[in-house]
Amino acid sequence: MNNESPIGLFDSGIGGTSIWKEIHLLLPNENTIYLADSKNAPYGLKSKDEIINLSIKNTEFLLNKNSKIIVVACNTATTNAIKELRTKYDVPIIGIEPAIKPAANLSKTQTIGILATKGTLNSDLFHEKISHFSNINIIEQIGHGLVQLIENGAINSVEMSDLLESYLKPMIERNIDYLVLGCSHYPYLIPQIKKIIPNHIKIIDSGEAVARQTKKILEENNLLNSSKNLSWQKFYTNSNPSVLKTILNRENDVFEKDF
Ligand code: DGL
Repeated sequence: MNNESPIGLFDSGIGGTSIWKEIHLLLPNENTIYLADSKNAPYGLKSKDEIINLSIKNTEFLLNKNSKIIVVACNTATTNAIKELRTKYDVPIIGIEPAIKPAANLSKTQTIGILATKGTLNSDLFHEKISHFSNINIIEQIGHGLVQLIENGAINSVEMSDLLESYLKPMIERNIDYLVLGCSHYPYLIPQIKKIIPNHIKIIDSGEAVARQTKKILEENNLLNSSKNLSWQKFYTNSNPSVLKTILNRENDVFEKDF
């Protein structure tokens, strides 16, 4: 492992590519490996133990490919398994959590909405996090069915807009002014969401913050890639490579493999 080794990212499926895009934008010189565990999606309905075991499997895959740092590009895996991963492995491990803090600090109505998976909203880490904002009214909504539709390439379907409307309307009625997207799949729904919510409601996700944190930790560990070689990007999936190719608009970098 050295500075030219890749950044390894994983998610339960294609959603974490929203994080990969932010990292690639900020750190274009870095080589990256992305693992989409689409065969096992959604993680949001699995038990904590199952999520830990899948996260270990994914991390081992990325470490076997020589990753110098691991980015858990999945809120559900972060909130349920990051402690175990950090105990088990020596490499730096970056996680992604719902951006409750900026939304709570910026909210004028003192009411914010969060859309996330059941696994994230039920996790101890999430409960611990929201306990610091008892002055804010936090409306939690599980995004039942959204990840499955995204994994099936049905982002723009009528079923998707119907589901989103049913989740967002009650939040709008309760006067939220910030909507936190607490799942790395959901940034792909922003155009759909904007058709439903009024303009004054701001949408926040954690992609940029994760990219900045990844850069900071690489700098602190002297791990930034200073090579002049053109960087490479590789994407592995264990199911449905065409959806991953479409969302990335990259044909040649996507590999199907059983893991
Ligand atoms: N992208 C994952 C997250 O951020 C999706 C969860 C799932 O597979 O249910 O939570």
